[in-house]
Amino acid sequence: MKKVLVTGGAGFIGSALIAHLQEREYEIFVIDNLSFGNRNFIQLPDSNFYEVDLRDREAMFSTLAEVQPNWVIHLAAIHFIPYCNKNPYEAFDVNVNGTINLYDAAEAVGSVEKMFFASTAAVYPIYDDPIHENKALGPLDVYGLSKLTGERLSNEFFLKTNIPTVVCRFFNAFGPRETNPHLIPEIQQQLNEGKRTIQLGNLEPKRDFIHTSDMARAVRLLMEANIDGIDTFNLGQGMEYSVREVVEAFERQLGEKITITQNPARMRKSDRMHLLADINKLTSQTGWKPLIGLDEGIATLIELPAYEQ
Ligand SMILES: NC(=O)c1ccc[n+]([C@@H]2O[C@H](COP(=O)([O-])OP(=O)(O)OC[C@H]3O[C@@H](n4cnc5c(N)ncnc54)[C@H](O)[C@@H]3O)[C@@H](O)[C@H]2O)c1
Repeated sequence: MKKVLVTGGAGFIGSALIAHLQEREYEIFVIDNLSFGNRNFIQLPDSNFYEVDLRDREAMFSTLAEVQPNWVIHLAAIHFIPYCNKNPYEAFDVNVNGTINLYDAAEAVGSVEKMFFASTAAVYPIYDDPIHENKALGPLDVYGLSKLTGERLSNEFFLKTNIPTVVCRFFNAFGPRETNPHLIPEIQQQLNEGKRTIQLGNLEPKRDFIHTSDMARAVRLLMEANIDGIDTFNLGQGMEYSVREVVEAFERQLGEKITITQNPARMRKSDRMHLLADINKLTSQTGWKPLIGLDEGIATLIELPAYEQ
């Protein structure tokens, strides 16, 4: 049975990935410092859970030496854009120095057969059309810059080790067990409080929302695929929705009218109007396609708390 080490496994996307992998023949190990994640999000014996900080180089080396993983899936990061902009030192320390520690430990341990790096659509500059992986890169914020550095470090890791490496640029995730105040849980929370007049920021920007269970399947298929060398894939639904359209999806599921008021405190100064993935490379190389659309995903969310404890 393959040993799969997931960093950030107690987080939003990590918990969906682990549940998905556990339905198959994989033995899961998690590294997470629980800064944003939650131990209760995953069903995993304590023996396989390492409460370790990526920045603790010694602990990273000893954990990998103990686990001897076959696959490493690197999700741990600080990723809420406003938080990264406010805390650039911390964002770089975790997302860049933490990645260096992981890659050095993975190189040293000798058991790793495949590496996965969770990157982001935030490595792209503003494009109004669907974005193909070959488009020029140009992050607009601290977070995107730290992840682009992570991509370059992934390339260095591959060049040094020859271990096949997948770089996957996630677009906007949605689903249960959110950890950060993104648009969908923010709407959900206000609705859960009984409000039918909700406060939001910019209403027109469109985003490509992808359900975490679809993401989990894509990550597994990329790990199982025969990838030589290092390769980069977008992971989105290939559909974009404006903030208004997301609210309309909630209206359809609730069967109630929702009124939006714009709160200047929630407006982001420079907002991209579009962020849409071209997913042809992923679908053609793995056979994956997204199964959960926005309405179906929101239908399952409205039953749940916006942020689980
Ligand atoms: N959620 C999205 O829409 C989205 C979009 C693009 C990319 N991503 C990327 O996907 C990955 C997972 O994101 P998520 O949405 O699940 O976020 P998350 O915050 O829920 O998960 C990140 C996990 O990493 C852990 N972590 C943070 N700093 C750590 C450290 N120093 N040491 C050990 N663990 C640490 C957190 O506790 C958390 O469990 C991240 O790399 C993120 O940048 C997410």
